[in-house]
Amino acid sequence: MSTLAVIPGDGIGPEVMAEVLKVHAVVEDAFGTGLKTEVLPYSADWFLEHGDVEIDIPAIGRTYGAVLLGALGDPRIPDNRHAIRIIGGLRQQLELSVNLRPVRLRTLAHCPLKHVRDVGDVDLVVVRENTEDVYVGVGGTVRGGRPGHVAMEVGVHTRWAVDRALEAAFELARSRPRHRLTLVDKSNAMPSAGPLWQSRFRALAASYPDVACDHLYVDAAAMELIRNPARFDVVVASNLFGDILSDEASMLAGGLGVAPSASYDPEDTSFFGVFEAVHGSAPDIAGTGRANPLASVMSYSLMLDRMGLRAAHRAVERAVDEVLRGDLLTPDLGGTARTDEVGDLICRAIARRD
Ligand code: NAI
Ligand code: MG
Repeated sequence: MSTLAVIPGDGIGPEVMAEVLKVHAVVEDAFGTGLKTEVLPYSADWFLEHGDVEIDIPAIGRTYGAVLLGALGDPRIPDNRHAIRIIGGLRQQLELSVNLRPVRLRTLAHCPLKHVRDVGDVDLVVVRENTEDVYVGVGGTVRGGRPGHVAMEVGVHTRWAVDRALEAAFELARSRPRHRLTLVDKSNAMPSAGPLWQSRFRALAASYPDVACDHLYVDAAAMELIRNPARFDVVVASNLFGDILSDEASMLAGGLGVAPSASYDPEDTSFFGVFEAVHGSAPDIAGTGRANPLASVMSYSLMLDRMGLRAAHRAVERAVDEVLRGDLLTPDLGGTARTDEVGDLICRAIARRD
């Protein structure tokens, strides 16, 4: 089959990616996916050594079946140039319009809400448009630094990208047991972007009569996630709102250590996307063995699913469920286990189910 590009990156990135590679070796043994791996060196060290070089992003899309990314971010590059170039480059240049961020609670103790009494009450996916909104770099500064300083950050929303994100969300909602989709926006205060999202949502809903649709303003959605997370199944939003809500939602199931993501172009059948934990390079714990590798392992599992490798995907999901129900966990989940111990446990759980 194809080759996976592995970008361990910075900080805890290489530590968690080492565990993903161990898991992949076990999956390979058990299921024979035929997926090879090739490690690419892009990291803060690499950028500091090579200076401001261009990376041929389209070539990555042509050469590899998918990218597994650790994390990019390093205090020595305060403007985060290297991370923007590689992560932003992949998302924008490869048109990875869809960003999936699933949040599922496995153990009640990992949810900080006292009124959540059933793990089934936190089981949702945020579908975030991944290429537009205020992340396109359109804007400017006038009278910079003077009292009349003007800062403009323009949100761009195209019908093309909105449709791609919405379609992915409808398809996902159709494939899940509850068949429910919530559009989140701020159309009451955004008279241009709001009607575009609203009208395309309504238009597409006509083709998905089996999906129950509703709508929330983003401020209400932020509140509802805390008040009644069980009301959410699939949530679709533009880039900025999706970014914020998915970080908030991740806390309902244990936080960044268990928050995976998948970014993909729904129409690309040869490049399956970029799979990375939601978290960053966590310089505060890098090198201490405290990093939770599960978010990266779960992102790898999303890749298996997207590639249609269902049996392997299910085996990894079951192993993650089993580990999360146990007590050998990293400190972010209240345990004392090290990164590699959790990785080993996942590997053993997968191998046992072979
Ligand atoms: P962060 O996600 O790296 O860390 C936030 C907090 O969560 C820290 O206290 C960290 O120790 C903890 N944490 C994160 N991942 C964890 C894990 N797997 N296990 C246990 N604890 C974990 O976010 P922060 O500190 O804002 O950013 C650090 C660097 O990472 C910055 O340079 C930032 O730009 C970059 N970053 C990169 C991202 C990416 O590669 N996609 C995403 C977010 C931030
Ligand atoms: Mg974020």
